[in-house]
Amino acid sequence: SRSYKIAVIPGDGIGKEVMPEGLRALQAASQRFGFQLELEHIEWASCDYYAAHGQMMPDDWKARLSDKDAILFGAVGWPATVPDHVSLWGSLLKFRREFDQYINLRPVRLFEGVPCPLAGRKPGEIDYLVVRENTEGEYTNLGGVMFAGTEREIVIQESVFSRHGTDRVLRYAFERAQSRPRKQLTVATKSNGIAISMPWWDGRADAVGQDFPGVRVDKQHIDILSARFVLQPERFDVVVASNLFGDILSDLGPATTGTIGLAPSANLNPERRFPSLFEPVHGSAPDIYGQNIANPVAMIWSAALMLDFLGERAAHDAMLGAIETVLAQGPRTRDLGGRASTTEMGTAVATLI
Ligand code: NAD
Ligand code: IPM
Ligand code: MN
Repeated sequence: SRSYKIAVIPGDGIGKEVMPEGLRALQAASQRFGFQLELEHIEWASCDYYAAHGQMMPDDWKARLSDKDAILFGAVGWPATVPDHVSLWGSLLKFRREFDQYINLRPVRLFEGVPCPLAGRKPGEIDYLVVRENTEGEYTNLGGVMFAGTEREIVIQESVFSRHGTDRVLRYAFERAQSRPRKQLTVATKSNGIAISMPWWDGRADAVGQDFPGVRVDKQHIDILSARFVLQPERFDVVVASNLFGDILSDLGPATTGTIGLAPSANLNPERRFPSLFEPVHGSAPDIYGQNIANPVAMIWSAALMLDFLGERAAHDAMLGAIETVLAQGPRTRDLGGRASTTEMGTAVATLI
């Protein structure tokens, strides 16, 4: 029978509270759809591990994850004890880069029953896919500080845009757009201000787009694109963006659908040479950790995306259906205006799978 090896990494903060709900839903799906999950529970890639070992992960982390079919990930970061760039470059960003998870897929959708902060918007009017470049761009550790500590201090932080890295994320986004009914791709740019990389990025979009005559392409500068996420969300179908622009858009989009507590992501190595990683868009939320009030839907939906990627389409659909029903009928967590706990909402979803 079908069996999948999954590394389970809760991480920090509410990662540890939403992960059990992701697993509860997976358990229900595996029973109903008849596949096995071989879970390995991993305590490293967390700031607790850092406190004990002085690093985020054991030296052999890569070998210990390489045989997995996927990684299910909560959230990492506890800035009160470990600087964020240390914890994130020591874990999540390493996974993305070393496992070449160059696509970060982040669906944005307004659900029935979820109050929308944009006036008059209905489900169906906000339903798009952010395709974020996930291994290069603005996220680098290239550069340095000169004349540190003096009045002459200068900081240089380089960006990296390779043709290989850019073309492959653009191609993926074009393919996604082509397979959707509206066939509309928005390319996020900033070629007016960022004078080298972004005009070049636009040129690559033109070049890759030659192979996709059926896709309507719309280039938008990131500033007005952000405004249109709020004012005209119905314009968007697939949006492709560099690492940093995609990061920002993928919090803004979900915010327009009521809460970032719903937003899932799939960090994909589409060639399956390495395991892909599935995680909520949100972080460890130190401000609400320990109260069992975090919304578990982002985690559960991420687990569903994992099953879809593993070939369990029916299980994915059942999980999403259960999420839809619970969002429409309750119970709901506080970020959705309800009073339910993380556990209550997660259990309600799992019961419907
Ligand atoms: P955050 O996403 O953790 O929290 C932002 C706000 O959203 C907070 O007010 C939080 O309470 C709320 N929120 C987040 N998830 C929620 C949920 N499921 N239900 C209800 N409310 C929710 O962002 P932050 O505060 O900027 O970051 C906190 C830490 O998490 C930092 O260390 C940061 O680096 C890290 N982080 C990690 C990831 C990741 O692991 N992928 C993503 C983002 C931030
Ligand atoms: C995300 C997060 C990460 C990112 C941080 C924690 C490094 O915000 O997954 O969106 O910027 O990619
Ligand atoms: Mn982010």
